[in-house]
Amino acid sequence: MTKSIRMDSCVCVCLISLKDVKPKVWRNRMECSWKTVLLLVCASLGVQYTAIRTLRDSLSGPCQSGFQCQNRHHRESNWKTLCDESWISMESPRKHILLFATTRSGSSFTGQLLNQHPEIFYMFEPLYHVQQAFTNSSGRIRRTLDRRALLGAYRDLLLNLYNCELHFMESYIRPEPQDHVTNSFFRRSSSHALCSPPVCLEGGYGATPDLPEESWCNKNCGMLNLTLASKSCLSKGQVAIKTVRIPEVGDLRTLVEDPRLDLKIIHLVRDPRAILASRMTAFSDQFRAWKIWNATGRQPRYVDLSQITSTCKDMVASAEEGLQRPTWLQGRYLLVRYEDLAINPKHKANELYQFIGLEMEDRVQTWIERNTNSNLSAPFEWNYKYSTTRDSRTTAESWRLRLGYDIARTVQNLCNKTLALLGYKRVHSAAQLRNLSYSLVEHITF
Ligand SMILES: *[C@@H]1O[C@H](CO)[C@@H](O)[C@H](O)[C@H]1NC(C)=O
Ligand SMILES: *[C@@H]1O[C@H](CO)[C@@H](O)[C@H](O)[C@H]1NC(C)=O
Ligand SMILES: *[C@@H]1O[C@H](CO)[C@@H](O)[C@H](O)[C@H]1NC(C)=O
Ligand SMILES: *[C@@H]1O[C@H](CO)[C@@H](O)[C@H](O)[C@H]1NC(C)=O
Ligand SMILES: *[C@@H]1O[C@H](CO)[C@@H](O)[C@H](O)[C@H]1NC(C)=O
Ligand SMILES: *[C@@H]1O[C@H](CO)[C@@H](O)[C@H](O)[C@H]1NC(C)=O
Repeated sequence: MTKSIRMDSCVCVCLISLKDVKPKVWRNRMECSWKTVLLLVCASLGVQYTAIRTLRDSLSGPCQSGFQCQNRHHRESNWKTLCDESWISMESPRKHILLFATTRSGSSFTGQLLNQHPEIFYMFEPLYHVQQAFTNSSGRIRRTLDRRALLGAYRDLLLNLYNCELHFMESYIRPEPQDHVTNSFFRRSSSHALCSPPVCLEGGYGATPDLPEESWCNKNCGMLNLTLASKSCLSKGQVAIKTVRIPEVGDLRTLVEDPRLDLKIIHLVRDPRAILASRMTAFSDQFRAWKIWNATGRQPRYVDLSQITSTCKDMVASAEEGLQRPTWLQGRYLLVRYEDLAINPKHKANELYQFIGLEMEDRVQTWIERNTNSNLSAPFEWNYKYSTTRDSRTTAESWRLRLGYDIARTVQNLCNKTLALLGYKRVHSAAQLRNLSYSLVEHITF
């Protein structure tokens, strides 16, 4: 008798969940093998509770690794209380996306393509806080901390964030959050979830439809409650994180192989000449020597070539590793050139969404229409260093009108392997550099 009552409450829960799942999301979740099977079993009223128990025993097999088990039990505690000893969860396992990029490679733009999706919890460079924590007042990484240790801290935080444990940020955020709330979360306003309910009651779809979140979120949403942020994260099917702070894709191997994660890496690359031109504009203080070079056409002796050189080295090392398709990256690595996204945003965004296994929602389509060349009367123009809202095709190419030929030629030599591998053509004269009818992007499918 008690058993059949429990069964009924379970069925009830199952039916409610079925109803709540939106058709698109539901289609994606159909792939989720045994949980789907169970859901259907559960929904058919004729099935005996004992049959389910048997099924459970045969299906709980994979839940052996301690961590995975812990995690799963934790997530399912809600269902446990509803269904007593039931272990059934309607939630499909959370998926994880890393937008793996380098500074000024178009990652804000690409990140927005993910951020717009209602099923994705997106964070813009949370590793910023780790780097800050290990940097002294003169902006240098503390000597006591080597590269390996910093990478370890990065991976550690990524793992916790992917599991929606946003409290782990508190060790790094300055000033230290009080009562789990903070005003210092880096680029909070770049994350739709952190500007909408339950995290921010002022936000949400349709709250201020004509203004980008960046323009009002920090002002209207108040302090960020990390407990609520974690809750919001737990309610989404995918967690996407953008970072420019991990040098090589090989540095991510332990995360990719971690059984607690289902990680896919979107490796975003861009023409290094464009990256350099963009950095010169965005960080003009750091690039004074380069700007003198650009203005005079003569290379100052003290110009620092090492940063762009290591950017190119890392880019080529990661792309080579990824394109060799090693077993550990099987189905988990996608190389995307920013130029392809900018020139053909809808098509490329579709590919990206296929890779992560989600449907491209209307919101994503709309965002693309409003922010790319597919609609030149884009209403959202505002002057902001990290602005993503502008005509993508023009932005992707405009560096060619801004960068001195001498600098372009130097970068071509420093980065010749990168250019060759990623399909960026060299230019042989200033005229060729400025001639935008001559495309520097070769047609390549990786
Ligand atoms: C910061 O760290 C760098 C490298 O470890 C060191 O050379 C510099 O003196 C430090 N500066 C301050 C203000 O602590
Ligand atoms: C943050 O949100 C949690 C969960 O709703 C709540 O219990 C807590 O009181 C909030 N913290 C503050 C400081 O408002
Ligand atoms: C361009 O955007 C505006 C405002 O969002 C919209 O009204 C218009 O229909 C769009 N035009 C095209 C060609 O998509
Ligand atoms: C480089 O110099 C040109 C003028 O020769 C200028 O128009 C452009 O803005 C400069 N580029 C950068 C990145 O400073
Ligand atoms: C890059 O430049 C070096 C030296 O100029 C040359 O030996 C090498 O073949 C070039 N590599 C590619 C891929 O063009
Ligand atoms: C610009 O490039 C196009 C395509 O390669 C070429 O046909 C044209 O002659 C070039 N224009 C100039 C001014 O060099």
